[in-house]
Amino acid sequence: MQHKLLRLKKNEILRNMCAETNFLNDQLIQPIFITEDSVSKKIIPGIPDNYVLDVKSAIHQIKIDLKNNCRNFILFLVPSSKKNINFDLSFQTTTIKKIKSFFGDDIFLWADVCLCSITKHGHCCLFDKNKDIDLRNSLSSLSRIAVSYADAGLDGISPSDMMDGRTAIIRKSLDESNHEYIPIMSYSSKFASNFYGPFRFAADSKPTFGNRKQYQLDYRNKTDAIKASQRCCAEGADLLMVKPGMHSLDLIEPIKKKTDLMVGAYQVSGEYAGIALAAEKNLLNFNEALIESWHVMKRAGAQFIISYGARKFKELGLSGK
Ligand code: PBG
Repeated sequence: MQHKLLRLKKNEILRNMCAETNFLNDQLIQPIFITEDSVSKKIIPGIPDNYVLDVKSAIHQIKIDLKNNCRNFILFLVPSSKKNINFDLSFQTTTIKKIKSFFGDDIFLWADVCLCSITKHGHCCLFDKNKDIDLRNSLSSLSRIAVSYADAGLDGISPSDMMDGRTAIIRKSLDESNHEYIPIMSYSSKFASNFYGPFRFAADSKPTFGNRKQYQLDYRNKTDAIKASQRCCAEGADLLMVKPGMHSLDLIEPIKKKTDLMVGAYQVSGEYAGIALAAEKNLLNFNEALIESWHVMKRAGAQFIISYGARKFKELGLSGK
């Protein structure tokens, strides 16, 4: 009786038998950054094995990923020219068309829907003359982007802007455009976080003034964070998400309980870079630490994980498809 916990740790078989968390390949989503600029491959500081690519190199990368059983992707599309209204979406839609016509249903393709990579000021919304958030125009731009992406053949929409009402308007616009079956995976509890640094470099989305605290969640506030996911649920989201994932573990279960929806975790660029840089300094083993971080998110209740290491799934020796 005394050594109850030790008894089940004796060897790997027994430990595996008792493991409660496990993965399927398709529960990991790999981000892909595609730029309109003429660079075939741009390094993203702190994020090994991930690059900002042009369309051709992105297709090449996805082919390699498919060989490694990685086939669930989220796209970040970065056009060269920025505007503050009347966005030209031709780069984004031709890119989606090219990728989907090449791979068809061999991949599931989500895309981040936001304004920060296409506006001159790098914010996720538009502003009015008084520099207040112009919610009406922000929402209509976001829903126009979502419908254009769906028209271009995208499989799933993932709004990340944190504007009130975006999920509702996107759902309504998709339904009215014959896209009733396109799911919305909402970045529903997304904090104004210090951990997005490498991403903003990759997505060319660093705000030119201020910060994102006017619309992203305050990390001191759990109540609001749960409410934000409840809002997206009420507005018709199919899947919810916490972000930054490793720093939002406490939220996953309460959100699931309150919404009855599945909740994923986004292991964001700064969190991933933290592991990568510690490994570079020989302070830990990168692959082992990455696996641990994924299991911890699963243990906290995450249904799926967005991670820059998704393409390493096979290399990491995690089972399942
Ligand atoms: C766009 C967006 C961001 C991330 C995903 N979508 C940046 C931000 O909100 O500032 C961050 C992802 C990461 O750091 O890996 N709004």
